[in-house]
Amino acid sequence: KYFQEPEMTQECRDLISTLPTQRGWIHETIHQYQGFWLETWIMQGVVAFQKHFQAHDTDILLATNPKAGTTWLKALSFGLLNRVRYPDIQQHPLLTINPHVLVTILEHLYNKKEVPDLTSFTSPRLFSTHLPYSLLPISAKNSTCKIVCLCRNPKDTFVSRWHFFNRLRPMSTGALSLEDAFDMFCRGSSGFGPYWDHVLGYWKESIEKPEKVLFLKYEEMKEQPIANLRRLADFLGCPFSPEEEAKGVVNDISRLCSFDNLSKLEVNKNEKSFGVENKVFFRRGEVGDWMKYLTAEMIKKLDRITEEKFHGTGLRF
Ligand code: A3P
Repeated sequence: KYFQEPEMTQECRDLISTLPTQRGWIHETIHQYQGFWLETWIMQGVVAFQKHFQAHDTDILLATNPKAGTTWLKALSFGLLNRVRYPDIQQHPLLTINPHVLVTILEHLYNKKEVPDLTSFTSPRLFSTHLPYSLLPISAKNSTCKIVCLCRNPKDTFVSRWHFFNRLRPMSTGALSLEDAFDMFCRGSSGFGPYWDHVLGYWKESIEKPEKVLFLKYEEMKEQPIANLRRLADFLGCPFSPEEEAKGVVNDISRLCSFDNLSKLEVNKNEKSFGVENKVFFRRGEVGDWMKYLTAEMIKKLDRITEEKFHGTGLRF
């Protein structure tokens, strides 16, 4: 279950006791591990994923900062890779199953005492992760497995994150103020943060190894969903054929995975996955929603940090 501590190995407990610790966004604590902040409940999963996961050359790993559009990327990638298996869009699994159930987050899969058995996953295996590039298991870096990173501008990522955590906070804990959340986000202390280091890790790899890491931006995907879906298909080695283009398959997958379509489905409105209501993953799905929430001072501060951190890297939002 999300946000619930699993039974931990003694090794993990010992490790946590050595790490710098701070208050998290709900009621949990976060720990600084290899340069990034991780919530207590996921520590076991992260460490076991790093230690035991053996990447296959044909694996596909979706890597995102939380709230960058993970749900969308999972749906699109699942739709792309399984389009021959599910040619009838009216019968598609995405209509009745939440994308988080269809594409597993590896650190969640490993978040238990026993090492999970992955033999039932068929090739190409499609997984996702929130881990930054530097924390990925060595085999994921050294194999020819492909990594797709989806990033989103820091202001929308932050606002989305603030809403998300407030929806998960128990009533008894009260709401997390925008100011407190903002302060934590800016200091980098949010799960899988600092946000900027997370984004830059994948950005640099995508420049150095474009055949291995594809870097997508949420804003560009919203603006040009079809072109970016084709880009994703080409990168994953399953480009759309002229026949598919003529039949409108690209549009079908894009529409199937759109915010409007997914957010209105019964499964995503009224059901839960891993103990969390699916609807929390669908809020507005827009670019620029931050304008409604951030003060001029907050905007100035976040822009300044982003400018400093991304200076000279070629990355812009
Ligand atoms: P907002 O809170 O700004 O609406 P994640 O999937 O990484 O948890 O990110 C969640 C964010 O992606 C939320 O942003 C959510 O509304 C948006 N989202 C979910 N599904 C989407 C889709 N199919 N297309 C575009 N955005 C989507």
